[in-house]
Amino acid sequence: MEEEYLISIHHMNKGYMIGEEKVPVLKDINFRVKRGEYVAILGPSGSGKTTLMNVIGCMDIMDSGEYYLSGLPIHETDEEDLTEVRNREIGFIFQNYQLIPSYNVMQNIIMPLVIRGMSHREAEEKSIETIKMLGLGHRLAHRPNELSGGQKQRVSIARALVGQPALLLADEPTGALDQSSGKDVLRLFGELNDMGHTIVMITHDLTVAKAAKRIVHIIDGVLSEETEKDT
Ligand SMILES: Nc1ncnc2c1ncn2[C@@H]1O[C@H](COP(=O)(O)OP(=O)(O)OP(=O)(O)O)[C@@H](O)[C@H]1O
Ligand SMILES: [Mg+2]
Repeated sequence: MEEEYLISIHHMNKGYMIGEEKVPVLKDINFRVKRGEYVAILGPSGSGKTTLMNVIGCMDIMDSGEYYLSGLPIHETDEEDLTEVRNREIGFIFQNYQLIPSYNVMQNIIMPLVIRGMSHREAEEKSIETIKMLGLGHRLAHRPNELSGGQKQRVSIARALVGQPALLLADEPTGALDQSSGKDVLRLFGELNDMGHTIVMITHDLTVAKAAKRIVHIIDGVLSEETEKDT
């Protein structure tokens, strides 16, 4: 039954230690995403979005509850295996791109494949299609600081895609972009979803969230009932 869902989270709680005390941040979260879905998690600043993204992205562990990713019980997985699951299953897209400044565009894009142990040559061959699709072919020798924000985000999306992860996980992907570049990124997300990619996008901006096919609200660490996009 769990296999039907790419993400299946049950009664998840997470807090942070502040001094001696645990301050709850995520409260009894239940969240499921089917393969091929495009979901936005919408909530105000401080509501717990990044904390939730870190748990979904296997970058942080929850205090209690169950989390299955591609049917794998993440809550029972040790840290070493989590790193592998993260590299294989998830492509991350961040507000501030998180590109490596000293690497050129090609080197940044092939990073996930090189981490998996692929040679540079093979990694470059494997990523050609993604690079073409994102229109980055003429920028491959550039460093990130020679690119516009929109171009940097396209490089980071290419990097997220090359490893063919099961999930694209984006935290405020348009947050640092002007309106036009932001729209380009959302258009690209729509196309990627049409191609079958599963996308979970985290944002505080309703206009951005509306680009997704389903919106889930998070307020003060509580994930609300899932509502239809146009209600
Ligand atoms: N490492 C940490 N240690 C202690 N408290 C933290 C830590 N990270 C986040 N918090 C607290 O957890 C709550 C949720 O933070 P989180 O970063 O998840 O919110 P957010 O919804 O992503 O906010 P924003 O929209 O501003 O990015 C906040 O009250 C924050 O202060
Ligand atoms: Mg955040």
